[in-house]
Amino acid sequence: MDLHDRVAVVTGASSGIGRQFSRDLINRGATVFGLARRMNKLEAIRETLGDAFHPVTCDVREEDSVTTAFDTVLDAAGQIDVLINNAGLGIFGSVDDYSTEDWDTLMETNVRGVFLCTRAAVPTMKAQNEERGFGGHIVNIASIAGLLGNPNIGAYNASKFGVRGFSKSMMKELRDDGIKVTCVYPGSIETDFFDVAGADMTDHPMKPEDVSSTVLHVVQGPDNYLISEVVMRPLRPRG
Ligand SMILES: NC(=O)c1ccc[n+]([C@@H]2O[C@H](COP(=O)([O-])OP(=O)(O)OC[C@H]3O[C@@H](n4cnc5c(N)ncnc54)[C@H](OP(=O)(O)O)[C@@H]3O)[C@@H](O)[C@H]2O)c1
Repeated sequence: MDLHDRVAVVTGASSGIGRQFSRDLINRGATVFGLARRMNKLEAIRETLGDAFHPVTCDVREEDSVTTAFDTVLDAAGQIDVLINNAGLGIFGSVDDYSTEDWDTLMETNVRGVFLCTRAAVPTMKAQNEERGFGGHIVNIASIAGLLGNPNIGAYNASKFGVRGFSKSMMKELRDDGIKVTCVYPGSIETDFFDVAGADMTDHPMKPEDVSSTVLHVVQGPDNYLISEVVMRPLRPRG
């Protein structure tokens, strides 16, 4: 997809790789609606990226919040060409100490949020397919933790395996509507993620720019084929 004059929705745009996706999409000519809960962070990003970045308050766990956010996008732009389901978090810890509240937070953000935002975008993308023969592209940011289990990240593993399963289903369900679905499985990236998760970052993580350039390459691919999955890892995570 040529991103010039396209409209992208990026969830979790207030930080980390979501902020980088927003920057790189705008640099390629797209308009970005950046969704997150922290409006002060989104406003600061607009000051840097300019008027092509539209901050939209949204808690992806909440159905009403997602509905309102996508209504805002459609009222302003009338189209959604790219949706990057990126909002997410980790909370790490051993299963016997893990609270039900933390489990629910991960499932509601990482899995329910992807479902709610996908459901909100798909009718528009299907209509676009009817009009112009190409619906759009949905990119789901899972994690290497959606492919491999590891100790003390059981809830995060379960949520990202969930994103993987949902993505695989959506890829087949939506392809005949001209909607591409790609699931991305990154290893560690240098963002605020590890502070939120309460874990140490690996010594040599990927940079947000590394992940974003790969995702943008995938999104800019020709209309006749789809890269459905991408696995990315730091080359030497521990040096
Ligand atoms: N960093 C890594 O090593 C790594 C590796 C693999 C995958 N990932 C995945 O990459 C994605 C982005 O994470 P990051 O590394 O960029 O971390 P980050 O810097 O902590 O960014 C997380 C983003 O998610 C948003 N978010 C969290 N809960 C939300 C909610 N309920 N509603 C709306 N937005 C919410 C945050 O915005 P607000 O707090 O403002 O709402 C923030 O913009 C996540 O899905 C994560 O699981 C990260």
